Amino acid sequence: MAIKLETRGLRMEYVRQRDGSRFVALDNVNIQIEDRKFVAVVGPSGCGKTTFIKIVDGLIKPTAGQILIDGRQVRGPGIDRAMVFQEPSLLPWRSVLDNVTYGLECQGRADSASRIRARELIKLVGLGNFESHYPHELSGGMQQRCNLARALAVDPEILIMDEPFAALDAQTRELMQDELLRVWRETRKTVLFVTHQINEAVYLADQVLVFGARPGSIREVVDIDLPRPRPLAIKRSSTFLEYEDRIWATIEREARQTMNEVALVSD
Ligand SMILES: Nc1ncnc2c1ncn2[C@@H]1O[C@H](COP(=O)(O)OP(=O)(O)OP(=O)(O)O)[C@@H](O)[C@H]1O
Ligand SMILES: [Mg+2]
Repeated sequence: MAIKLETRGLRMEYVRQRDGSRFVALDNVNIQIEDRKFVAVVGPSGCGKTTFIKIVDGLIKPTAGQILIDGRQVRGPGIDRAMVFQEPSLLPWRSVLDNVTYGLECQGRADSASRIRARELIKLVGLGNFESHYPHELSGGMQQRCNLARALAVDPEILIMDEPFAALDAQTRELMQDELLRVWRETRKTVLFVTHQINEAVYLADQVLVFGARPGSIREVVDIDLPRPRPLAIKRSSTFLEYEDRIWATIEREARQTMNEVALVSD
């Protein structure tokens, strides 16, 4: 299958404000994601996951390296990508429908056809009866559904999500995972999904990129060969648990190494 998203030799150095020293957050990150695949990114806190997807989204420029979409280099944000953040970022003075069409308005594409499409997406994420509600009238899970509909409304080719379910309670989170897979099946976007939860990554993804820190880079790529559609009960199957254990072992090794290094520095 065709490669949708590729990064070559991505490197990110941040300059520390306090002393002007440089910190290498990412080094030599190379990925190749096939069209319409669901790829999850996991790794210990601070290993550069958010930095990585912000670079892919075009929100920050890498110090070195390239991002290619359909084989063409991109150098900034574009309508081919849309991002869903951890915290729902809805405009409080706009209804659900007007939040979903906001991105289209910004792009000068808010015609009647796009309003019809927005309504379809609102139904797709299960908010059909809440079109004219305002964000404060919605639960956290509903706000995140609205965020998802908004990201999908611009019809991006690549959907980028940074821990979108982190603020939700455990049951809502599970339901949202299931919902997301349903929405993904119907829209067939290429998805890059960051999460702290290994079982969320295994449940959702075709492939899991395991990041390590110091400097942030990919330590392991795990293909998840579980059938779809995936019932939530698949999380208790032995194959599922083996994937989880394998990824956990890599992350644990990374986290311990980082802790040892920090201990050595502070000794
Ligand atoms: N604007 C910045 N300036 C300087 N350093 C930064 C900046 N943003 C992030 N960093 C550093 O880069 C590293 C990677 O940060 P990043 O937020 O990408 O990690 P993460 O994997 O998303 O972490 P988490 O799992 O906690 O969300 C961290 O050590 C962080 O302190
Ligand atoms: Mg992060």
